[in-house]
Amino acid sequence: MNEPFETGARVVILTGAGISAESGIRTFRASDGLWEDHRIEDVATPFAWMRDPELVWGFYQGRRRQLLEVVPNPAHEALVELEKFLGDNFLLITQNVDDLHSRAGSKNLIHMHGELQKLRCEQCGEVVVAMDEEHLTDDYVACTACGDERLRPHIVWFHEMPLHMREIDQAVADCDVFIAIGTSGHVYPAAGLLGIAQACGAHCIGINLDPPENVALFDEFHQGKAGELLPNLVNVWIGVEEE
Ligand code: APR
Repeated sequence: MNEPFETGARVVILTGAGISAESGIRTFRASDGLWEDHRIEDVATPFAWMRDPELVWGFYQGRRRQLLEVVPNPAHEALVELEKFLGDNFLLITQNVDDLHSRAGSKNLIHMHGELQKLRCEQCGEVVVAMDEEHLTDDYVACTACGDERLRPHIVWFHEMPLHMREIDQAVADCDVFIAIGTSGHVYPAAGLLGIAQACGAHCIGINLDPPENVALFDEFHQGKAGELLPNLVNVWIGVEEE
């Protein structure tokens, strides 16, 4: 669809780790199969947290501190331009737990796998944004609401349910255009959203460095780096003429 979106088109975007790669955040399924030198099952499951909370906490504190060193890239910024053009007809669903979409300026945004900036109390359910210096050391952070001594990362780990699934499924089923960017299509239910969009008649566009697992389901696939491809694609979709 190398042409502007139709007036009133409802557009849903799904992003994954690939969109933040050019900001310097490593993806999950890099060629070594490790995530920042750890096996995913050692740091990203509730069982890991029960077995070795110190390792899991230290790992996520590292990821949380890294947020202070990275900035949004042209792909994040292009999606802000697209949202300005589409207004309420734009929804961005991200699997990423970094805050680069919101820092770039995206507004209608759902974090389906949680957010690094937030911590959650397993006792009372309190969720807090905790990014001050005192929250970023290797010491645990206590819950100010109930006093529990150890908040956990507000992250959806493997074996846990993603957040806002009802809203997500509905928006994907109702959209006219579905665009997946920088996601390998390995992890469900996120990977299944493309199938829902396709079955419900949306035009499906993929943008990824390598063909993802579910590439055959796209109507249109653009292979390359999101930061290089997306600004031009967005210009086409919103009808901005190239100089
Ligand atoms: N531009 C576009 N795509 C890229 C870029 C880039 N610059 N760099 C890498 N990619 C692609 C890779 O080719 C890969 O297909 O991004 C994809 C990233 O895949 P994953 O690392 O598997 O990340 P993601 O799909 O987001 O993982 C889903 O798995 O570990 C869990 O909860 C975690 O949200 C995560 C989920």
